[in-house]
Amino acid sequence: MQKTKQKAVAYGHDGIRQQGISKVEEVMSVKRKQNKITVRLKKQRAMSKSPLYYKYDIQKYDLHPNYYFTEVEDLIPHGVPEYIDEGQHYVERIVRALYYFKQCALIGPSGTGKTHIVYLVAELTGLPVWEVNCGLQTSSYDLIGRFVGLGKENWIDGQVTQWLRHGGILYLDEANMMKQDVATRLNPVLDTRGHLVLTEKDNEIVPRHQYAYCIISMNPFSAEFSGTKKLNAAFRRRMSVWINFDYQSVGDKISPREAELIMKRTQLDEETAYKILRVGAEMRRQYKAGDLPYGPSVGDLIHWGVLIKDGINPKMAAEETIVALTSDNAEVQDDVRRIIESVFV
Ligand SMILES: Nc1ncnc2c1ncn2[C@@H]1O[C@H](COP(=O)(O)OP(=O)(O)OP(=O)(O)O)[C@@H](O)[C@H]1O
Ligand SMILES: [Mg+2]
Repeated sequence: MQKTKQKAVAYGHDGIRQQGISKVEEVMSVKRKQNKITVRLKKQRAMSKSPLYYKYDIQKYDLHPNYYFTEVEDLIPHGVPEYIDEGQHYVERIVRALYYFKQCALIGPSGTGKTHIVYLVAELTGLPVWEVNCGLQTSSYDLIGRFVGLGKENWIDGQVTQWLRHGGILYLDEANMMKQDVATRLNPVLDTRGHLVLTEKDNEIVPRHQYAYCIISMNPFSAEFSGTKKLNAAFRRRMSVWINFDYQSVGDKISPREAELIMKRTQLDEETAYKILRVGAEMRRQYKAGDLPYGPSVGDLIHWGVLIKDGINPKMAAEETIVALTSDNAEVQDDVRRIIESVFV
């Protein structure tokens, strides 16, 4: 079997950094020989590793009973920040869908935390993540595998093949942007008892690992801006659970939990945090109405807030963050500035 050398997955931390994460270790055995004591420690890899584990009601769903992903342990995320919602219980719904159906789909506008929650679910359940961005001209070589170098002896498995062999979560981001030839190859694999035939190699049949889960995500609003296609029908049928995501605050609806999150991560006062959020909520409303090309995520708002906390004037700080981020078109940038000025008078 080929060795996978992947970088450890650490999820980006937005906002003011906190210190002091402790490692939990479990004692496997203690041996005493004459006056020497040997203690074997095992790093806990099971579901309870995350400090957020008990924040979510997921303890009854074990996604890999007595099974450890030793070979691909590095792909299990760590340090993913908490996911906040207003009682929609997204984490629980995703974990439950994986438990019963092995796969699910997440639909929602850009920046509603779809990628974030996939990494959080992976950390909470102790599963490695295999992420594929289908919008980035992903070819079937990247997904299935290919020969490298001269001759036909050096085959390298692609992401999907590795996932089938090792298990974990295959995360197909922007699944509706997937090219047809790639979708055709993936369809049989996503039958939950499916397998892949490596026709490009030696017709090896790669069965789906018993703990191989799949999450797809897509953005319903990108259609006007970047030519999003409808999700392939065969693909659609293979997903049993669909979960809709939305911003916590949009237009006049301001979520106190989102404001709290901004305060916590930026250390800003309540008044400024609410102002930031009101700007963000209005931008999101306009994005959903098709008037702006992008709606800021809470992460984007936090970046703006971190600069304000550092002492920069809010309008200046906005130039470097949410104004530039929304578009490089001067007119669109002016629209954003007007929203900011209506709140930060
Ligand atoms: N409900 C939430 N709780 C905590 N953080 C959130 C939440 N929603 C979004 N974020 C933060 O907002 C940022 C954007 O989230 P993320 O990249 O996961 O969005 P996305 O839905 O995957 O967007 P895209 O469709 O553009 O890929 C991240 O920094 C994420 O941590
Ligand atoms: Mg994403």
